Amino acid sequence: MTITPVKMVIDTDPGVDDAMAILYVAHMPEIELLGLTSVFGNVSVEKATRNALRLVEDAGLNVPVAGGAAGPLARDAQPHSYHVHGAEGFGDIPAQTPKGRALDEDAADFLIRMAREHAGELVVCAIGPITNLAEAINRDAGFAKNVKRIVFMGGAAFVPGNVTPHAEANTFNDPHALNVVLQSGAPVTMVGLDVTMQILLDGDDFAALERANPNHGGFLNRASAFYLEFYRQVVGVAGCGLHDPAAVIACHRPDLFESRSVAIRVIEEGEEIGRTLPVDEGAPMVEVLTGGDMDGVKNLFLRAFGPATATA
Ligand code: BDR
Ligand code: CA
Repeated sequence: MTITPVKMVIDTDPGVDDAMAILYVAHMPEIELLGLTSVFGNVSVEKATRNALRLVEDAGLNVPVAGGAAGPLARDAQPHSYHVHGAEGFGDIPAQTPKGRALDEDAADFLIRMAREHAGELVVCAIGPITNLAEAINRDAGFAKNVKRIVFMGGAAFVPGNVTPHAEANTFNDPHALNVVLQSGAPVTMVGLDVTMQILLDGDDFAALERANPNHGGFLNRASAFYLEFYRQVVGVAGCGLHDPAAVIACHRPDLFESRSVAIRVIEEGEEIGRTLPVDEGAPMVEVLTGGDMDGVKNLFLRAFGPATATA
């Protein structure tokens, strides 16, 4: 059976788990990556653009990178997550200057152009604060109709947040942008902490990735040490959530997940800012992933880097 690849743009703030998601795509012929757009979040937008360029070069992905938003639409800018992802975004791995440069076109214009050129086919997978997508919707009334689906990593509908008791990091960073996206009328899937914290990767998993693929798996094994230490010390969990890779996997393997259609209101101010609150009515409906074949998702991710090899 011939599988038609999913046409995808990834909007990203790399970031250790962003790197996991993008390197997964490099090994997944079921996804046709059309480009990356960068956004502030885990790191500054300058570092996010640089890291995105480095990832496409290291992965041998011949796709453009468009630089995006440096801060949120309306709220006060929050500190970047260097304590989670390391000073340059990839744990203790030093910064590396990429060979290429970003497009002159910015992220929102690139997203608008891709959605027009691939109308009805483009899936936008947002794995950072969703500011660039809100900007695309604000600039182009046709954007929401042109995209096939927006799949975003963010939010926590039925579980606690990870930066506050109420909010997940991406939605905390730009709640207004998520409301713009939800109200746009585009079909939206939320890959929040409800599902991503059900899939944990530990040090043994990353070591296996390195054995399977010394180049990309080795990079992720090195980058993840700092990230895993954050999870161990601060979150109290012996593994990291498969946040951003789960969002990418949900784009091409939705059959692995269970979901509920939920009306979601994003809280824009006060103590609960960034909360993705399920309400009875009066808010846009979102497909919220709640669980599924979590071992299947994890194995799909790990196996993408090569066959499992015996412990060294
Ligand atoms: C999300 O926040 C970022 O730190 C990660 O890259 C992921 O996109 C998890 O809450
Ligand atoms: Ca991210």
